[in-house]
Amino acid sequence: MRIPIAAGNWKMNKTVAEASAYAEALLQELDTPGVEVIICPPFTSLYALSQKFAGSSVKLGAQNMHWELKGAFTGEISGSMLLELGCEYVILGHSERRHIFRETAEEVGKKVETALKLGLRPILCVGETLEERERGETEAILAYQLEKGIEGITTFPNVESIVIAYEPVWAIGTGKAATPQDAQEAIAFVRGKLSEQFGSEKAQQIRILYGGSVSPENVGQFVNQEDIDGTLVGGASLDAGKFLDIIKETA
Ligand code: G3P
Repeated sequence: MRIPIAAGNWKMNKTVAEASAYAEALLQELDTPGVEVIICPPFTSLYALSQKFAGSSVKLGAQNMHWELKGAFTGEISGSMLLELGCEYVILGHSERRHIFRETAEEVGKKVETALKLGLRPILCVGETLEERERGETEAILAYQLEKGIEGITTFPNVESIVIAYEPVWAIGTGKAATPQDAQEAIAFVRGKLSEQFGSEKAQQIRILYGGSVSPENVGQFVNQEDIDGTLVGGASLDAGKFLDIIKETA
């Protein structure tokens, strides 16, 4: 039995004051057992939110980290720093990191390995661009990103604590979500690859999310699919009311 996830990726949005006000609004209304709620704010709000969410069921996640534990990496944040701030999750390999900041699949893999070693749960993002989909390369891209992403953890005993997010690049922030059938197909393919790598028992325990223009209106269709275990939400998670609706629809 995989517990469904509603995860909000705020990207580069909200000051500490705005994040704190959001947390209060969320906690006032949140009453949805059976859904794991994860908020991934910018680094700057992690500490304030760890105080706000203390004693609640809301989990904290970061949006990135470096693969080294410490050292001369100006501007970077390590996994142990995130753990100290109360993070349980960390998004790795988001398409904006891959495409805007030129992160390679190998670098993402190193981050996944370090995160899991430290006991942080990676939310590994994979997804094809529109051109890749049109060229019929979706499965090849997913297989490549996944293979590199999990390369360093294949022998880890806790691989089932990883979460995968399938986010087709063309659906992110465009208002043009994938169809639930296309998302299910891609996610079933990813689960098949996980099964080849980790065996079917582990693959059945790993949660795989859909992300890309998820809204309170369309989320139900995604979470009803057999292999989709929740969503990673960008724009619609910035509004506490909308995100609460998404959480309710996920239950
Ligand atoms: O990580 C979530 C994301 O990339 C999807 O963004 O705004 O399309 O929900 P959005």
